Amino acid sequence: MQQSPHERRQMEALLDFYCASGVDCFLGERPVDWFNLTSEHAAQRLQTRRPPPPPHTGLAESAPAANLQHPAGVPSQMAPAAPPVSPAFAAPQTGQNPGTGQPAVLPDREIIAAARDLAGSAATLEDLRRCLESFDGCNLKLTAKKLVFADGDPQAKLMFVGEAPGRDEDLQGKPFVGRSGQLLDRMLAAIGIARASVYIANVVPWRPPGNRTPTPQETEICKPFIKRQIELVNPDVLVFLGAASAKTLLGAQDGIRKMRGRWMTYPGNGREIAAIATYHPAYLLRSPLEKRLSWRDFVSIKEALVTNQSA
Ligand code: URA
Repeated sequence: MQQSPHERRQMEALLDFYCASGVDCFLGERPVDWFNLTSEHAAQRLQTRRPPPPPHTGLAESAPAANLQHPAGVPSQMAPAAPPVSPAFAAPQTGQNPGTGQPAVLPDREIIAAARDLAGSAATLEDLRRCLESFDGCNLKLTAKKLVFADGDPQAKLMFVGEAPGRDEDLQGKPFVGRSGQLLDRMLAAIGIARASVYIANVVPWRPPGNRTPTPQETEICKPFIKRQIELVNPDVLVFLGAASAKTLLGAQDGIRKMRGRWMTYPGNGREIAAIATYHPAYLLRSPLEKRLSWRDFVSIKEALVTNQSA
């Protein structure tokens, strides 16, 4: 369709508005037949775009007014009447979390600060789980079935951190229980370690819809919780499964090919924790030849544990 420069500018302004409002994903869990929307459906969808009440983070204030402004020059029929809820975040029809009935929130700095305060207030892992259960600042919670907090031994010397749960994890409420998790279990068994003796968690504890990559905002909101989880477990050895978790928690810039297999340190609670990144098991399922390099990493992980134990 041919667009005039004016229409194009209007469209760009509208997209800017969506970005500023925190709408950063166009992926929904259910397909929408846009050619077959009845007026009733359309009215219901509009209903989901009413301004949400103040966010239910339990701590955060409502989103800054600036987020709610329409950009200048966007005609009213194009600009949403209220901050739109990302299709990825909004539950179909109502815009409410089917589980809790909570409305979606716009990710902003205040929510990240609230997440930090809340995570910092947790004195134990069980506290932290409760904090996450009560935290409504991350919209992924709206579409996820379960919180995927952690699995394994809270006293473990070895801790793994992945990126975000997938479908199987979301159904069971446990990290790494799907095909990648089964591969991880076999890799652990290969170095003589039982899954039950390690601790496994993810940076993001709710499944992103359709297994999409978590957005930077979602990651930032969840980061304080995984950092606190690491502090509370206080392992001797920390393993990042895939580049995403290493980048989030170490601020590393390199890609996983460069980063994997190199020992680094993670700033723990008053001490440096030995940390290493290795390929994500999901990647190994797609690229089985790379298992050779992962095997080296796992041998090195076992050595580091043994060295730590005898030190
Ligand atoms: N991939 C992850 O990063 N985490 C899981 O829990 C499962 C798959």
